[in-house]
Amino acid sequence: MAIQKVAVLTGGGDAPGLNAVLRAIVRRGAERNLEIMGIRDGWEGLLEDNHERLNRRRVAGILHLGGTILGTSRLNPMAVENGPQRVIQALERHNVNAVIAIGGEGTLSIAREMHELGVKIVGVPKTIDNDLGCTDFTFGFDTAVSIATEAIDRLHSTAESHQRCMVVEVMGRHVGWIAAYAGLAGGADVVLVPERPTTIDAVVERVERRRQRGSRFSIIVCAEGAMVDLGEGAKVVADGYDDFGHMKLGGIGERVARAVEQRTGIESRVTVLGYIQRGGTPTAHDRILATRYGVAAADMVSEGKWGMMAALQGNDIVAVPLAEATRGLKTLDPRFYDLASVFFG
Ligand code: F6P
Repeated sequence: MAIQKVAVLTGGGDAPGLNAVLRAIVRRGAERNLEIMGIRDGWEGLLEDNHERLNRRRVAGILHLGGTILGTSRLNPMAVENGPQRVIQALERHNVNAVIAIGGEGTLSIAREMHELGVKIVGVPKTIDNDLGCTDFTFGFDTAVSIATEAIDRLHSTAESHQRCMVVEVMGRHVGWIAAYAGLAGGADVVLVPERPTTIDAVVERVERRRQRGSRFSIIVCAEGAMVDLGEGAKVVADGYDDFGHMKLGGIGERVARAVEQRTGIESRVTVLGYIQRGGTPTAHDRILATRYGVAAADMVSEGKWGMMAALQGNDIVAVPLAEATRGLKTLDPRFYDLASVFFG
């Protein structure tokens, strides 16, 4: 079998498990006669000719490491003058046969467009938000949920000691997967998510109900993109856009805490978990999922499954069209939210 040269890049926000994917691609790739060129800093590395050879030695000892040894960025070549052409020229210049793009909806939408322009490309789904279509789970999500759950556990004891209402703001730009999973696992009293717009009155009612029942504290988990009507209609709290055109969210937790305190007189505090959820070592679950995706991506390249993405469906890794996976965000399963709400208030 002739050697195929494959460019691999990691794009968008990092997620625990990226290095496990890279290691798996290299290790499986060696069995499949794939020579791996690591592109630095996402699509930017193809525009800037910034890359390095990934071999067995380079990926040794990285399985458990957070972040990505390749670096990442949100640079969108489609928004750069002659960007797509420059990407294609770079691939030709280095005799690259195929590309593996590891990323979320932004990176994989670009991969889909590059595929439409004729690039042989395969995708791997990554996002702590778990909002990619056609796959049951993305790697990074389990780690984020574990970190958020531990934080909620810790907040319980201090909330109870001080008889406070604790608001925990977690990531999840347009979806409430992390909030609902961590909220259920951590025993939250209220979970606020983008998919279920609500009012501050409804939140206060639950906190009051708990007080009447004799509970000395409350825990509210709030996705950064939660839609809560604080008196001006339910809307997200955002500040500008990133290079992929995504809203930069944050601040809803603070507003909810302030409103709860004002209306109930219960001292309220907010904890914004932020990048803690994304950094550091992946859980065993994410290492295994990421490894399965990496092996599948190398297999998909050697089988010529262009324009496809590795996906988890049930307990199987399957190939799905990038076009389908990037059609729309996978929002929180309403049945899961209903399950979590059994334990609210
Ligand atoms: O990875 C997705 C995500 O974690 C979102 O939940 C969040 O809004 C976003 O990344 C923020 O990341 P950055 O500041 O790196 O753009």
